[in-house]
This record gives sequence, structure tokens and C-alpha cells, in this order.
Amino acid sequence: MSAVITCIEDLRRLAQRRVPRMFYDYADAGSWTESTYRANEADFQALKLRQRVAVNLENRSVAASLVGQPVRMPVALAPTGLTGMQHADGEMLAARAAERFGVPFTLSTMSICSIEDVRSATEKPFWFQLYVMKDRAFVEALIDRAKAAQCSALVLTLDLQILGQRHKDLKNGLSSPPKPTLANLINLATKPRWCWGLARTPRRGFGNIVGHAKGVSNTTSLASWTAEQFDPALNWGDVEWIKKRWGGKLILKGILDEEDARLAVASGADALIVSNHGGRQLDGAESSIAVLPRIVQAVGRDIEVHVDGGIRSGQDVLKAWALGARGTYIGRAFLYGLGAMGEAGVTRCLEIIERELDLTMAFCGKTRLADVDRGVLAAHALPAWAQAPGA
Ligand code: GLV
Repeated sequence: MSAVITCIEDLRRLAQRRVPRMFYDYADAGSWTESTYRANEADFQALKLRQRVAVNLENRSVAASLVGQPVRMPVALAPTGLTGMQHADGEMLAARAAERFGVPFTLSTMSICSIEDVRSATEKPFWFQLYVMKDRAFVEALIDRAKAAQCSALVLTLDLQILGQRHKDLKNGLSSPPKPTLANLINLATKPRWCWGLARTPRRGFGNIVGHAKGVSNTTSLASWTAEQFDPALNWGDVEWIKKRWGGKLILKGILDEEDARLAVASGADALIVSNHGGRQLDGAESSIAVLPRIVQAVGRDIEVHVDGGIRSGQDVLKAWALGARGTYIGRAFLYGLGAMGEAGVTRCLEIIERELDLTMAFCGKTRLADVDRGVLAAHALPAWAQAPGA
């Protein structure tokens, strides 16, 4: 293992060594056969870039804005569950790295550090991701807590009323904190750095839930919490009341169909995220990048279209932008940085992606994102799904 970290894969390998298996596997897995999880990355790789030369490449910038907020690059940290189990106090560290770098951090409802913990670790507003539970009073309280913490956008996830089956989580007996079984103790004994961090923090359970939600029989298991508490009846009517109660910027996550994209526009949301939840929900669904061109064609003039799933490099960010995404999210990429090196690892991840994005844009003969469109992709090598819709 090289000590010099030059790419996201270096961070992934280091995280795999340092993070207990059940939490590394939780992040680095998809549902069932993992075909959608793999397609997310593979379809980015299938897009080829078009090199241009002898263009003045001085004064480049990858700055952009997301739902009206200026960002250093059009990349946000995705909401990811159990982030504080990749590294002690993980959400606080990642939020701080994102804030210092100049991109949004999105705190998951299923986080280890609470909304208030992250607020106490940051100076600027972060984003909050909401899951909808049957207990509406609890959902309202979550929205109000996010408002009180001055979160500047609410990301409402629409594709997880029920949980996709991830074989590894069941086999590993995923729970937070881990149960003291023999297999866990043997694995934890090989992760002294992680254990030392967790021993020194009080934050080891679901911080937004424990002590806030009523009638929960098992607060250590994501699977039993979702099965018992998430509302399978969630519908567009709920989006309306959530939008009203929140009153701020609203981003709808989990859109993978043009009809749903039109409903998202009709809901009055500020942005939508083309997402298959990192291949963790409907295995067999298309990759996010393959769906993106159709959604942009359907609603790109009416709403800001973002995308997540499979983004592991600045090249991927540029390709998503070229196909019309005006925002991208990294989940696993920053979790690898966090698991590998804590806050410094998240910063390193963002630096790597920014540098790759900047240089790739330049090799394609562009100096600002506003000038990047599908012309930076090699037209003759485009997969069918990436052809201009209607062309
Ligand atoms: C939660 O969002 C998960 O994908 O596990």
C-alpha cells in the first residue's frame, strides 16, 4: 500500500483495512445481485471523452451553484447512513471537511451524529436528508430540528419506504454499535485505530432517533428500524405537506423515471436527484447516468437536475455535467476517505475529485463548466442510452 494517496481507489483500499468489515461492507455493497450497483460505475466508464488541443487553458474554474448556493465545484456529499461508524464522529468530521472545502454536506436521517451534533461542529449551513416515518409527529420534529439548525436545503428521499435486501448486511449481522459476538470481536481486534476512536466518543447509536422517537423496539438495527417505522404509504401528497412545513429549498431524491420527474416538477421542488440509491434498492434498475439524459430531456428546463450513483472521479463529474446534470453527489467516495483518514481523508477525496475535474475539463479544451456540454463526449463512441434523446 503506497503511502501517497493519489486517487479514490487508494482511499478505498485504506478504508477496507481500517474499518470493521460490517461497516465497510455496508457502504461498499448493493442489493441482491448488485447489478445496478456495478452498472452505475461501468456506464460512466463507457462514456469516452473528446480531447481538444491548442486551446488557451489559463484562468480555469469549476465553480458552480447548487439550488442557488455557490459551490467550489458542482459536487455535494451524499446522505449516507451510519457514517459515524466508518470513523468516530464521522458526520461531524465530514461536514467540517465539506464546509472548509466549499461544497454542501448532506446529513442522513440515519446518521450516528445528530443534527445538533453536526450543527455544533460547523459554522455554515449544511443540508438535511429526510426519511418519512409513520410517526408524523417525529417527522415534523425532525423538520423543525433541521430548521432550528439552519440547514439550507432539505433532501427528501422517495425511494426507501422499504429496504432493498443487501446480503452482506444480513450475513454480517449489521448493527450500530456492533454486537459483541466472537466474529465481531475477532474482526474488531484487527482495527485498533477505529476502536480507539469509537471508545472516546459517546456517539455510537442513531443520533437523530435514540431519545427522540417513541415506540422503537430496536434502535441498533437499520433493517428493523426501517421495517417497523418507515411509512410504506408515502406519496406525492406527503411531499406537499413536507414542502409546506419545511418552507425552504427542497430536493427530491430517488427519481429514475420521466413520469416521476414530471411529478417532481409539479410538486414545486427546487431540484431532483436522478438516483437508484447507489444500487442499494431496486437491483435490476438502470444506472443513474443512463437514465439522466431522458430526465434532462423531459424536465431539464423546469427544474435543476442532479445525479448520484457511481461517481468515483472528477471525470465522472464532468461526464454527468456534459449530459445535463447541474449537480452531482458522492457517497462511497467520501466514505472511503473518512474510513481511511477521518476528516483529512474527506478533504483529500474532495481535492482529488476537484483536480481530476479541472484537468479533464481542460484536456477537453474548456476553461469553465458553463461551456461544457455533450460536445466533450466522443460522439461516435456514445452508448445508445447516451445519444441525444429524440436524435
Ligand atoms: C440507507 O440510506 C441505506 O442505503 O442503507
